[in-house]
Amino acid sequence: MGKDVIVALDFPTAADTLAFLDKFTGRKPYVKIGMELFYAEGPEIVREIKNRGHKIFLDLKLHDIPNTVEKAMKSLSKLSIDMVNVHAAGTVEMMEAAKRGLKGDSEEGPLLIAVTQLTSTSQERMNEELLIDGKLEDVVIKYAQNAKKAGLDGVVCSPLESGMIHDACGDDFVTVTPGVRFADSAKDDQVRITTPEGAKKLGSDYIVVGRPITKAEDPVGAYERCLAEFTGEEK
Ligand code: C5P
Repeated sequence: MGKDVIVALDFPTAADTLAFLDKFTGRKPYVKIGMELFYAEGPEIVREIKNRGHKIFLDLKLHDIPNTVEKAMKSLSKLSIDMVNVHAAGTVEMMEAAKRGLKGDSEEGPLLIAVTQLTSTSQERMNEELLIDGKLEDVVIKYAQNAKKAGLDGVVCSPLESGMIHDACGDDFVTVTPGVRFADSAKDDQVRITTPEGAKKLGSDYIVVGRPITKAEDPVGAYERCLAEFTGEEK
């Protein structure tokens, strides 16, 4: 399943984003549009990037009552995106509603994945602030199992969790993993990181890479290096 590099388009405006994408004259990368860009530019930026031939992961992490999420997903289904996500914390019922809204009765359509626990949530905060008992790792597995039960296609997780999620939910349950850095590049604010090659060995299906590509002196070269290391594929 998958095995692709998704470039995180963490830019504030359409102009910045399109100027960045203009650099890619050959292979069009799979891209991730998050809240920053979507809330600034709306659905039009999704259509524009789709028209340029990119696959799109719309990272909006929906979390609301089931009916609202179902209706929101129905709206998003009109954007011909390739992947979209919700928070698993919204419950199995909410995830089932999300799937209904996105895909109707079909198993086709965009991949629908769930955020388990955000990588910014520590063990301590989860126990003491959110009052969720137990080990973070066990909660991540349980939320992934809930996502599978609801009929979702996979989860966003740390590359270091891909193996245990595949063990618990099956090899075809997709793992999408941020927190990837080249062996010789800055960590930025990411803590639990691995290299593209490491993520491949750990079983990630897709890696999400932002700053190592967007802030590189040669973004196209950095993207191609990432793709080669992760997929073994030369350009
Ligand atoms: O620049 P960097 O490679 O750290 O970007 C990673 C991208 O993945 C960002 O868009 C970030 O919001 C997203 N992300 C993450 N950790 C998560 C979920 C999403 O870094 N747990």
